[in-house]
Amino acid sequence: MLIANINHLCLSASQLWAMSVLAVAAAASDDVKIAVYWGQNTSEGSLRDTCSTGLYAYVNLAFLSSFGDGRAPVLNLAGHCDPPSGACASLAADIASCQSAGVKVLLSIGGGALGGYNLSSPSDAQGVATYLWDNFLGGTGAGAPRPLGDAVLDGIDFDIESPSQYYDDLAQNLTSLYRSDARGRAYLLTAAPQCPFPDASLAAALGTGLFDNVWVQFYNNPGCQYAPGDAGALLRGWQNWTTGLPAATVFLGLPASLDAAGSGFVDVDTLASQVLPAVESAENYGGIMLWSRSYDKDTGFSGAAHPQIRKEESVRPLFSLNTFLYNRAAAAGVLLLFLLICTCFLCHKKYRGTSPPEEGSVVAPPASAPKKEQPQPKQRPQRLKRYTDSDVERMTKYYAHKLGHGSTGDVYRGNLRDGRQVAVKVLKDSVGDDKEFMSEVASIGRISHVNVVPLLGFCLQGPTRALIYEYMPNGSLESYAFSNNDSVENYSLWLYWEKLFDIAIGVARGLQYLHGDGNANIVLLNVKPRNILLDQELCPKISDVGVANLCFSKEGKRTGNARGRDGYDAPEVVSRKFGAVSSKSDVYSYGVMVLEMVRAKRNISVGEDTTSKYFAQWMYEHLDQFCNSISDVSSETRDLVKKMIIVGLWCIQTAQTNRSSMSRVVEMLESSSMDLELPVRTS
Ligand SMILES: *[C@@H]1O[C@H](CO)[C@@H](O)[C@H](O)[C@H]1NC(C)=O
Ligand SMILES: *[C@@H]1O[C@H](CO)[C@@H](O)[C@H](O)[C@H]1NC(C)=O
Ligand SMILES: *[C@@H]1O[C@H](CO)[C@@H](O)[C@H](O)[C@H]1NC(C)=O
Ligand SMILES: *[C@@H]1O[C@H](CO)[C@@H](O)[C@H](O)[C@H]1NC(C)=O
Ligand SMILES: *[C@@H]1O[C@H](CO)[C@@H](O)[C@H](O)[C@H]1NC(C)=O
Ligand SMILES: *[C@@H]1O[C@H](CO)[C@@H](O)[C@H](O)[C@H]1NC(C)=O
Ligand SMILES: *[C@@H]1O[C@H](CO)[C@@H](O)[C@H](O)[C@H]1NC(C)=O
Ligand SMILES: *[C@@H]1O[C@H](CO)[C@@H](O)[C@H](O)[C@H]1NC(C)=O
Ligand SMILES: *[C@@H]1O[C@H](CO)[C@@H](O)[C@H](O)[C@H]1NC(C)=O
Repeated sequence: MLIANINHLCLSASQLWAMSVLAVAAAASDDVKIAVYWGQNTSEGSLRDTCSTGLYAYVNLAFLSSFGDGRAPVLNLAGHCDPPSGACASLAADIASCQSAGVKVLLSIGGGALGGYNLSSPSDAQGVATYLWDNFLGGTGAGAPRPLGDAVLDGIDFDIESPSQYYDDLAQNLTSLYRSDARGRAYLLTAAPQCPFPDASLAAALGTGLFDNVWVQFYNNPGCQYAPGDAGALLRGWQNWTTGLPAATVFLGLPASLDAAGSGFVDVDTLASQVLPAVESAENYGGIMLWSRSYDKDTGFSGAAHPQIRKEESVRPLFSLNTFLYNRAAAAGVLLLFLLICTCFLCHKKYRGTSPPEEGSVVAPPASAPKKEQPQPKQRPQRLKRYTDSDVERMTKYYAHKLGHGSTGDVYRGNLRDGRQVAVKVLKDSVGDDKEFMSEVASIGRISHVNVVPLLGFCLQGPTRALIYEYMPNGSLESYAFSNNDSVENYSLWLYWEKLFDIAIGVARGLQYLHGDGNANIVLLNVKPRNILLDQELCPKISDVGVANLCFSKEGKRTGNARGRDGYDAPEVVSRKFGAVSSKSDVYSYGVMVLEMVRAKRNISVGEDTTSKYFAQWMYEHLDQFCNSISDVSSETRDLVKKMIIVGLWCIQTAQTNRSSMSRVVEMLESSSMDLELPVRTS
């Protein structure tokens, strides 16, 4: 959110004076979505400079102007570079700089060179898809000339202005190639239809539902564009597009100046007062698209429109950001204005107390936050957003990318409309009626701790029940700490002892919070490396909290009957004869996990028996020997290792009463290993 960005910038005020105007502008672009076409006029400046304005979220390279029906594909970037000579490969560096600034760069195929392109058959479509994949995207086809060098673009844009068949095949075939990407990268499919609905050239392709973003050209089309003083036709067209393409994010395509199109120009003030208020109400509104960078550079249209196109109401009336975004010469004034904004913003924020409400129906967080005060920084409880069936289909692109599967359901990667990545868990065998589901979800939503994966929303519609979580880019602890593939690549992923320790204590704090410090509020019974996810900074987050309650009867869950068992399960989870399950059952799993982390890291051989049970037994007698054998680290680090082992041993005691509570575990990890004793050895 722009709001969050401003807040962030304001808080780092100490760095403010060092900050360039450019950096300010770049940060502001994170949330505001403007797409622009670049490539048809050298007066627009370089691609790198275009991206570093911070104004654009998407840049479409215009165009691959010739392709299909046996033609040799031709990239046409006007005077920017000469593709046949290979000179455009130098754009790779600009593209990389755009991408690292968070700007998505796409190749637009088609454009105004009518007669220059069409598709003659399904196999022609397949051929073009393969050509695009191998030359501009993740493909590695032998001998592909790659006109843009080693750049890997973020997707393909269809700007098809002359009708022909088979663009639906092209969309299908590109999507299949996208999904085949070896590195799991996500690519975009976008399109720029004319505003008369449905579009003559792209209707079939758009009908596939495979397009992420659709920027509709509301210009050069008198039947559906803005007429001076009358936004009616435009808004009727908008209504057709946004309801007609529920799976896509729809952008309002406009000329960036009077000269940029024959008709349909809307000035920024009119845009803000007459058009945006109506346009924004569409669920799938994404922002605006501008033709083109050269005109935008001349008029500063996007700079002025930038603060207007957000959905949040709270910042808009306060001030106009365009001056400070655009007038780079007046750097001092800019900084002053910026400070003023910060002050206003912070006061404003303080006054309101919370962030602005999100659109859509929400489940309010409870008045009383859960239990104990934690020393850890807590995340603010989120409002849960409710999503529809088709929202979920859209955000997961029809369940295109499966992240994993478990006994409670499959997990898919997805994107919210604001670009945030999410993990969507589609529940299977969900039990209970809608009311019970809502109340369980509300209680999961109440959980808020830096070491627990936050729930952002849910879907409850007919038989579809899904939970939408923040996406954790670095996967699970399992893939990091427990890979014993000793290839160099994998080795580089191995975690340092210090990091392992941070992870161990983070998980302990998360469990301490969930257990309510001994009052056993929430028992997980699924603590294991696969369920510990890692965020960008490798901070651990416990996942799947409370989900078992949604999927199995409490009885089944408590006795462990419904689940596969493994070495992480406490004795009482496996067999009733060891007593009833309790929060101490999680303590046991935690202990096994910590010992396994140590064992996997060290890869030591302790005789024939390689089970963790045997490893623990061995540890009792060889603790000092083991720690001293870790010769390549400092004595402080050795102390961390020793603490992990001692804590692990306390946690895996057979008798529940002999196991430490999670609070005690945290205490032990925070103290020095000198103060810790080994538990009495019982078997
Ligand atoms: C494609 O374009 C070529 C040349 O413009 C034309 O001869 C051909 O009939 C077109 N094919 C289709 C299927 O539209
Ligand atoms: C290309 O798309 C067509 C139509 O969707 C499909 O029949 C064909 O199998 C696809 N080809 C490949 C290689 O995926
Ligand atoms: C909206 O769609 C309907 C049905 O497809 C069509 O008849 C109408 O002309 C469209 N209106 C605009 C402004 O595109
Ligand atoms: C290139 O852009 C300039 C300024 O925006 C404009 O005056 C000129 O007509 C454009 N040239 C072409 C070929 O579009
Ligand atoms: C974590 O994931 C991010 C984003 O995918 C990546 O850039 C980063 O290198 C990863 N961190 C580690 C330590 O692998
Ligand atoms: C180890 O990882 C490399 C790639 O990182 C892979 O090529 C190799 O097959 C893996 N080896 C095993 C035994 O899994
Ligand atoms: C590391 O090795 C495991 C197999 O042990 C493999 O599945 C994984 O993909 C490897 N990771 C990387 C980044 O190569
Ligand atoms: C782990 O230990 C086993 C047996 O001692 C050995 O074969 C293997 O190469 C070791 N792997 C690494 C990554 O050290
Ligand atoms: C619990 O620990 C005590 C010593 O602290 C020991 O005597 C007892 O046998 C343990 N109980 C079990 C069931 O292991």
